[in-house]
Amino acid sequence: MSSSPVDALKRAAAEAAASRVVSGMVVGLGTGSTAIHAVPALARRLRSGELQDIRAVATSYQSTMLARELGIRLVDLEEIERIDIAIDGADEVAPDLTLIKGGGGAQTREKIIAALAVDFTVVVDEAKLVDRLGSSRAVPVEVLPFAVAPVSRAIQRLGGQPELRMAVKKAGPVVTDQGNLLLDVRFTEISDPARLERDLKMIPGTLENGLFVGLARRVLVASLDQGVPRVRELLPPGTS
Ligand code: 5RP
Repeated sequence: MSSSPVDALKRAAAEAAASRVVSGMVVGLGTGSTAIHAVPALARRLRSGELQDIRAVATSYQSTMLARELGIRLVDLEEIERIDIAIDGADEVAPDLTLIKGGGGAQTREKIIAALAVDFTVVVDEAKLVDRLGSSRAVPVEVLPFAVAPVSRAIQRLGGQPELRMAVKKAGPVVTDQGNLLLDVRFTEISDPARLERDLKMIPGTLENGLFVGLARRVLVASLDQGVPRVRELLPPGTS
């Protein structure tokens, strides 16, 4: 793993989240360059004996493969009824803790895990904080390959500009862990994320989209304080 200053921030946020895990918990393992740091942090705590009896549910092949490699016990959703804490990253975080996720194309499983989690803890570096969702990032939408054309037209009618996500180091489009395609949708303004989330979901042929509304229980934000990573906690408005 790289050790750039930004990576140190990502690691600090993810390790702060991993330190919230206690023995016996079911943990959701997120996807991306920030959340993935929680996996070795948990593995270290398990190896030292400080943590015991952890079961994890992974949101992608990325977190599945690393958890397996590091000996973290993985379970399926059939084996559990709830998740105590899910630790995941985000592409944008608005002041009310609504999120855009899916930069790694994993938003469908990520949203299922986040919705099952008692404590959905989001880990970011401060560059992810925005005043309004959609300021810097498109909204990823997972789409059945059969339905890409009609879904694209329906998204345009909602005011979005969809673009098929193309793969790097592979010819053709990105194929999700579920075997579907991704549309990255630009909106000039997202004034009502909850409504847009529902509108996108209602288009036949779409699965989950990257708008996460009312799910984050806390956001751990890492920033540099006199050259040293410092992590602060943001809570949803009205909570303490
Ligand atoms: C993957 C995600 C990621 O959590 C999100 O894209 C943030 O990734 P990173 O920490 O690499 O910036 O939603 O689908």
